[in-house]
Amino acid sequence: MPMLASDMSSVEAILDLNKIPNHVAIIMDGNGRWAKANRVSRKKGHEAGSQAFLEVVKRMIEYNIKFISMFAWSTENWGRPKNEVASLMELSKEFISNNLELIHENNIKVNHLGNLHNLPADLQEKINESISLTKNNTGATINIAFDYGGKQDIVSAVKKIIAEGILEENINEEVISNNLATANIPDPDLIIRPGGEKRISNFLIWQAAYAEYYFTNTLWPDFNAKEIDRALEEFNNRDRRFGLTS
Ligand code: FPP
Repeated sequence: MPMLASDMSSVEAILDLNKIPNHVAIIMDGNGRWAKANRVSRKKGHEAGSQAFLEVVKRMIEYNIKFISMFAWSTENWGRPKNEVASLMELSKEFISNNLELIHENNIKVNHLGNLHNLPADLQEKINESISLTKNNTGATINIAFDYGGKQDIVSAVKKIIAEGILEENINEEVISNNLATANIPDPDLIIRPGGEKRISNFLIWQAAYAEYYFTNTLWPDFNAKEIDRALEEFNNRDRRFGLTS
């Protein structure tokens, strides 16, 4: 497989590979500011962001990270200028077309989080194609959050629970988790946010209850394999107590 010829010897010295997170979620942020800083269009910024996506996912697969969630488009992002929305939808469709084979060859399973029906029909088709092509793959799972909002996900879970007629005494955390878009996916262990902001922006808010956070000023298009190494090094040094004493 051309994509994933792995050489981890350089990081083995600093990282305990037994303490690699099972699920890493990334809020891709800073494409616009990167574009401004580099005096190119926002479209070019998003293009550079999609290249970073490939490099970063490749690195996480090398680390054998089993679940990867990438926040590509929030329910709030629809308020952006029409031409930016249109170019990002087009870019995402092309990105899937150009990389689906590679993803499939690498045994990666694609999953979508969010409202598929709001997306342009051709992008919906591409996402559905990538889900059905990769559904039996047994390697890593990549969740693409596209038109996703954590609060909306919880609202939708509550509606499903009511529709299923689940009785009040049977409602517990597991029932809620099982009705979210991430049912059957373990909660994220590490949430990475590049781009300088220190907030979660409605991403996996229920699931992030005990996640570790890694923030960096690096803008998403400049985020790369080395940055993943740094984030994992910091995760390695975190003491996760899940509310218990040390
Ligand atoms: C945030 O930067 C980024 C986005 C809203 C889009 C993320 C999308 C990609 C990286 C393209 C790849 C997508 C797929 C599905 C592979 P921003 O525009 O909010 O940056 P700013 O805060 O600097 O303005």
